[in-house]
Amino acid sequence: MNPQFISRIVSAIQLSIILLILCMGTMVYVYANQNFGNSNANQTNVNLANSVAPAVALTDEQKHGQELFNNNCASCHAVTDEAVVGPGLKGVTNRRPIDWILTWVKNPQKVIAGGDKYAVDLYNKYNKAQMTAFPNFKEEDIKSILAYIDAK
Ligand code: HEC
Repeated sequence: MNPQFISRIVSAIQLSIILLILCMGTMVYVYANQNFGNSNANQTNVNLANSVAPAVALTDEQKHGQELFNNNCASCHAVTDEAVVGPGLKGVTNRRPIDWILTWVKNPQKVIAGGDKYAVDLYNKYNKAQMTAFPNFKEEDIKSILAYIDAK
């Protein structure tokens, strides 16, 4: 083979290798930039979450209410509008007077038996499902549950 021909092939191969390296370099660069962009986006989310967190932090009273709610009410009630066994409790302090709620939670059956129209209608609407009575709850306990519901 003619040496000149061989040297042409060698320089063609060298050129290809250089092009290949350039190509891969570009790909790595683009890829790294994409990742950088993503991690920036995550950073923004984290910052947003952090700045929102203090606003939803619960007071001690609300935390006490949350614990009582989870242990005693959550099996039948949601803190949203959503009905479970009983009605969703969102906004309940706006639709019912506080004294009514206190009496109700301590003994719902007694309120229904007493003929309270709101209670009887609600009881019928919820297919006569019986709410548990909580005669041992202190007023502060029930109020802390309501404070928790209002905070949600
Ligand atoms: C076994 C299921 C059950 C449990 C547990 C329960 N409830 Fe109820 N609750 C109901 C049902 C059902 C109603 C609807 C009325 C009825 O059928 O007696 C209701 C109604 C209510 C209402 C009136 C809601 C409105 O929209 O006017 C309040 C307030 C309430 N419950 C608070 C509580 C609290 C606070 C707890 C926990 C301490 C609790 N309930 C635990 C089933 C339950």
